[in-house]
Formats: sequence, structure tokens, C-alpha cells
Amino acid sequence: MNFDEILRLEDFEPLARDAMEAGAFDYYVGGAADEVTLRDNVVAFGRRRLRPRVLVDVSRIDTSTTMLGTAVSMPVALAPTALHKLAHPEGELAVARAAAAAGVLMHAATFSSYSLEEIAAAAKGPRWFQLYFHRDRGVSRDLVTRAAAAGYGAVVLTADLPVPGYRERELRSHFVVPDDAGPGNYRSDSGDQDLLGYFTHEIDATVTWADVEWLRGVSDLPVVIKGVLTAEDAGLAAEHGAAAVVVSNHGGRQLDRCSASVDVLEEVVDAAGGDLEVYLDGGVRRGTDVLVALALGARAVLMGRPYLWALAAGGEAGVARAIELIRVELDNAMALLGVTRTDQVTRAHLM
Ligand code: FNR
Ligand code: LAC
Repeated sequence: MNFDEILRLEDFEPLARDAMEAGAFDYYVGGAADEVTLRDNVVAFGRRRLRPRVLVDVSRIDTSTTMLGTAVSMPVALAPTALHKLAHPEGELAVARAAAAAGVLMHAATFSSYSLEEIAAAAKGPRWFQLYFHRDRGVSRDLVTRAAAAGYGAVVLTADLPVPGYRERELRSHFVVPDDAGPGNYRSDSGDQDLLGYFTHEIDATVTWADVEWLRGVSDLPVVIKGVLTAEDAGLAAEHGAAAVVVSNHGGRQLDRCSASVDVLEEVVDAAGGDLEVYLDGGVRRGTDVLVALALGARAVLMGRPYLWALAAGGEAGVARAIELIRVELDNAMALLGVTRTDQVTRAHLM
């Protein structure tokens, strides 16, 4: 497959639809209930307007930045997403190689198809571990200890999935994860064949802010809270010792009718007040989306579905092309906005 003809991230989606099993595609593409929030994530970015400055020397653009002190080549990371073998047999290994080659941060998910050690061994790039609290705290402790030993740089606690969202597409398709797709980190005693039942069985719905303190004691890794949408919770994250938050509605897969991520970013950034790094995910599809998020105070963004489509369409080469596309767009948009470094993007660059 020649990916030169793929000119925007969304071009990968129809290729993925052709490449994937229908139930798996539905699981990837879908959101909760009416998918209002899923659509709104993209639409809300489209409503924002930039304020470019002219006659600035933009002959050299530097997209690099840091995330919690880790050097990355651009403020775009690959979001934690489950079960990459549903997209491609090389799954997370292909993603890890493409991310490392490009110098972008990737997340290994608790429900990855390959184990976190296999992912770490695939390539030496910046990577964080995404955690769901298991009902058995010993399982969670083990996962975090293993992640620290395998060189992951942070633990990202996903806080917006105490229970799975009301995902009608999955309820209709009764999608069952094939045995060879994982999960790779641990064997579960869940008898649940369908995915939503499996998540319900595995994930602990009793988790509170007190458990964030417990988590901080398990390893030296900084803790990132993913799924924060309010000033109140940003304040609590800082109070409980988190190092960063991800403004996220889980790609519209959890509570339908909550705000588009970009619409609550400023509220969270203001509440974080410099105590926390703030990232955003949900609907990032263009280099200009990245600039909007930076202008509103995010340090970096994560993309989810676009790199999954690329993985399904072309394995490692597909993911590499997806990363290249957003880098080319970001580079171009920075020049036309009149900035040469990501830290030059400010609120004044937005209407
Ligand atoms: C996710 N997401 C997710 N988040 C997480 O913390 N742990 C996980 O295991 C998963 N799994 C997962 C699977 C699939 C198929 C998708 C699409 C998403 C959510 C993900 O990290 C991110 O928040 C959204 O995907 C961002 O929105 P976009 O870029 O997909 O619009
Ligand atoms: C999902 C879970 C695994 O969104 O985070 O499907």
C-alpha cells in the first residue's frame, strides 16, 4: 500500500473499515448512546478560529517539547487504546516501533493485546502506562511495578471508566474478542465473552481520590489522571499529588452529552494554575487542532482513533504515515500562525 495518497488522518478510516472485522470496527469507531459527544469533539475544534501573526521569520520550525520532562518531537502523543491486535497482528508492537522512530510518546494500555514488557522490548521510545484499577488491588500493584521495571515513564490512571459507557453499537453486535487478540498483560478469571461484560467484570467501580494516594505509593512514577472535564476535578488532582491531567471524555465513549474536550480545556487549565501539566484528547484530527489546544493552554494532545485506523490499514508503516501527516500539518500551521516553537503559542493566537 502506498500511503503517499493518504493526505489527512481521516483518509485512513475507510481503509480500516475494509481491513477490520465488522464487530471490531464498530468497537473502535463507536461512542456512547447517541454519540453526541463523539461528534462534538470534532465539531468543537472546527468552531475555533486562529489569529495568525505575519512577518515573522518562520524559516525554522521546531515542534519539539517535553511531557513531564520527557523529550518528545512534537506535542502529539498516541492515546492509550485497548486491544491493538483487533486492528493488526503486530498490534502494539507496530505502534511502539512507529512512535519510537518518530520520537512521539505512546501509551501502553492495561488491556493491550501484547504484554507491557513485549511492547517495551519492541522499541526504545518515550512511553507511559495506562492503568485501570482491577478489583483485586494486587493485580494493579503488579501492573504498576512491572511498568516501572520495564521503563515506562508515568502511570496514567483512567478515571472516567468506573463502568463502561452505554455503547449501543457493541450491544447490538455482541462483539466477542477473538482469543488471540489478548489481553496480553494478565489472564482474567472473567467468564464474560462480550467486551462490555468483560470490562465491567475487570474494572473496579469503587475507586476514589484516596486511591490516587495509594497509587502514588506503589512506585516512583508520576501519576497522570485521564478523563478530567471540570475545574473541580483538576483542583482535586493537584491536591492528591497528580503530576498532570488529560482533559478527555474518552473519545465520546463514556458519558454521552458531556462537553467536547476542547470546550472545557480552558476551565481545566485555569484551575490547574501551573501546578499540573494539562493534555487533551478527543477529536484531534489536524495540525490546526493541535494549535488550538496549545493556545488554550494544553501542553500536548493525544490522538486515538486516527492511529488505530492507520494501524489497521498498514501496520507500522500506516502508523508512521499518520504521525508524519500530523507533523507536516503542524509544521505548516505553525509557520502560517507566525510561531517557530510550541511554547510561543498563546491565548492571543485564538479569536
Ligand atoms: C480508547 N480509549 C481508551 N482510553 C484508556 O484510557 N484506556 C483504554 O484502554 C482505551 N481504549 C480505547 C479503545 C478504543 C478503540 C478507542 C477509540 C479509545 C480512549 C482514548 O485514550 C482517547 O481518550 C480517545 O480515543 C481520544 O479520542 P479520539 O482521538 O479517538 O477522538
Ligand atoms: C474502551 C476502554 C477499553 O474505551 O477504555 O473501550
